[in-house]
Amino acid sequence: MKIPAIKKWRAIRDIPRLARQPVTVFSGYHRELGDNFHFSVSKLRRTHMTTDADVVQHVLQRNHRNYEKSEIQADQMALYLGRGLLTNNGSSWLRQRRLIQPGFHRQRLAALVKEMNAVIQQRCDFLDGKLAREEPVDLYSFTQQAAFQIISRAIFTDSFDEAETQRLNQLMDDIQGYMIYPIRMPFLRKPLRWLGQERKHLALSQQVRDQLLEIINQRRESGTVKDDLLQMLIESRYEDDGSPMTDEQLIDEIIILFAAGYETSANALSWIFYLLTQHPEVLDKVRQEIETVKRKGPIDFDSVRELKYLTQVIEESMRLYPPAWITDRVALADDAVKDMKIEQGTVVGIFIYGVHHSERYYESPEEFRPDRMSPEAKKDRHPFAFLPFGGGPRLCIGNHFAMLEMQLLLSSVLDRYDFTLVSGQEQPGLRPIITLHMDRRVRIRINHRLKSQSVDA
Ligand code: HEM
Repeated sequence: MKIPAIKKWRAIRDIPRLARQPVTVFSGYHRELGDNFHFSVSKLRRTHMTTDADVVQHVLQRNHRNYEKSEIQADQMALYLGRGLLTNNGSSWLRQRRLIQPGFHRQRLAALVKEMNAVIQQRCDFLDGKLAREEPVDLYSFTQQAAFQIISRAIFTDSFDEAETQRLNQLMDDIQGYMIYPIRMPFLRKPLRWLGQERKHLALSQQVRDQLLEIINQRRESGTVKDDLLQMLIESRYEDDGSPMTDEQLIDEIIILFAAGYETSANALSWIFYLLTQHPEVLDKVRQEIETVKRKGPIDFDSVRELKYLTQVIEESMRLYPPAWITDRVALADDAVKDMKIEQGTVVGIFIYGVHHSERYYESPEEFRPDRMSPEAKKDRHPFAFLPFGGGPRLCIGNHFAMLEMQLLLSSVLDRYDFTLVSGQEQPGLRPIITLHMDRRVRIRINHRLKSQSVDA
């Protein structure tokens, strides 16, 4: 079957728009050409874009051995973030995944609930301070700090004080904010190098590595044993020869856990809070559920599972605004799926946002309807029509971690506070960087739920 293609002159003409609004441009191409089309600006990066859940399942799961991450993740991102799980490929990836996977089993996460709740309490104290000072809250900065502190404490328990956490957060933000330029506009790579930008950001990466090595050494020298991810990574041994990870690899994996684990959750949480301001009837239902579960005792690792409607709200929000809005794979050998050839070297662009917004899988896909994430509704849906965490063997290793932190944070904050958007703000649009941000700062005003004290911006 011949796959429709975007003409080369058109692709080149659209580069500036693609650099600014790739989600809008790719969505438009898909509307015009269907679920599968070819797109290439140069012969070097021939791309098969897809929103077809069958093709996605084939590439990520059924024939995953024929595909690996493209140079975007395996080279460009790895340059700054190192070669951890997310940026690794082939047998080295498999060896690392086997080593690290047990640390993320759902049951292991129970030990991290205490750390997550400590951060959530601090964040609520922060909201109380804002309320007392009658100040509005910047939504993304609130969720971003919560997610960064949670992943930081999950890895290092209490090894970092607040200033060190903030410093690391700033360094990671600077590195990730910069990385998008050479990735999205490869023609800028050389000028950025000449302007010293590459060197400057590589030096920032080195600072992160130095800071992490210091903490790792402190942990080793102290002889204390903690119930956190660092301990798990230090103690883990390869199945084949019983050896531990090298320091270099250990640092790579920690940086990747940070990089993959805070912006994603922070964006998901921001969109969830925003959607709840727009859907008071959904918020009411979520609160009723939280109150019912809390009547039996504080929400913990076990009772969090009873928050079924809240989980549907989280999932439906991630359908509309998937934090990882795209991913890719490269074909290692010629392949075919549904009469479509995928030649060796072709990049398959898995447009997760497009799958989630496809009328083929969702009725009125632009509408926020948490009921479509009920177990009954899911039964009739293609298993790869909802993939906020990816799929197949490279499914997000932090998926349970992310769901748990979001459930815990939302159940605390929604139960304690009322919140509305500061008036006069425009609706946020999409800002797809590496993850899917809002295109503007959204401010909310909060009230204590039980008191009628009001804070206006
Ligand atoms: C809402 C939050 C999150 C979302 C939406 C998300 C999404 C994803 C997606 C889509 C992938 C697969 C990428 C691909 O196949 O190319 C992935 C992989 C990964 N994620 Fe997450 N993630 C989230 C949170 C986390 C957290 C909290 C952690 C760490 C604690 C984490 C660590 C990772 C790692 C290490 C990988 C690479 C796995 C591998 O290739 O073996 N993620 N994530």
